[in-house]
Amino acid sequence: MKFFIDSANIPMIEKFIDMGIVDGVTTNPSLLAKEGASHPIDHLKKILELVTGPVSIEVVATDYENMLKEARSIAKLGKNVVVKLPMTKDGMHALHTLSKEGIKVNVTLIFSANQALIAAKAGATYVSPFIGRLDDISFNGMDLIRDIVQIFKNYPIKTEVLVASVRNPVQVIDAAKLGAGIATLPPDVLDKMFMHPLTDIGISRFLADWKGVEQKYGNIFDSLK
Ligand code: E4P
Repeated sequence: MKFFIDSANIPMIEKFIDMGIVDGVTTNPSLLAKEGASHPIDHLKKILELVTGPVSIEVVATDYENMLKEARSIAKLGKNVVVKLPMTKDGMHALHTLSKEGIKVNVTLIFSANQALIAAKAGATYVSPFIGRLDDISFNGMDLIRDIVQIFKNYPIKTEVLVASVRNPVQVIDAAKLGAGIATLPPDVLDKMFMHPLTDIGISRFLADWKGVEQKYGNIFDSLK
């Protein structure tokens, strides 16, 4: 499973990129608005300097013509840019036009399998089903992932399922078990995925047991230098 980082925060992106566990980045207007220090385009350019994998950047226009204008400008920012379009009729019209120009599109705000099917048919590279927001209104987000993964497998659909609006590490395991290709993860969820109390206890025990050896010999690895 590929991991994208669902953030526009440069130190966070850098931290996880340096660990080699992040394959791409997804941003949205809310995430960019949080990083208010510089002009959003300058900020996006800095993200693109850091990331070699796909970086999703969302349009804010809602009508076909202006979506196209914004999407074409966004696409010029870099080879790895993916334009994010919302799941609307204008969005699908723009997607179809852009896909003929070779521009990759991530269709966002997917809340049903029918929406995912339509986006795939119109030429989406990725569909982003928002599982957390479904859970928030008492619908099972993971059921949607199961449905989309199964439906896409039934046909020669190349569109990738990008699990979005992830709120906790259990959802990552569940989505991976269902065979979803990508999950986009907020930094706090990625942080939590590292954790296990037995790992911390294990390190403390090794260090406690080693104290006597260290007192006698110092750092044994120094002798290898
Ligand atoms: C990703 O592409 C989405 O913008 C994001 O996952 C939305 O997450 P949220 O529901 O936590 O805002």
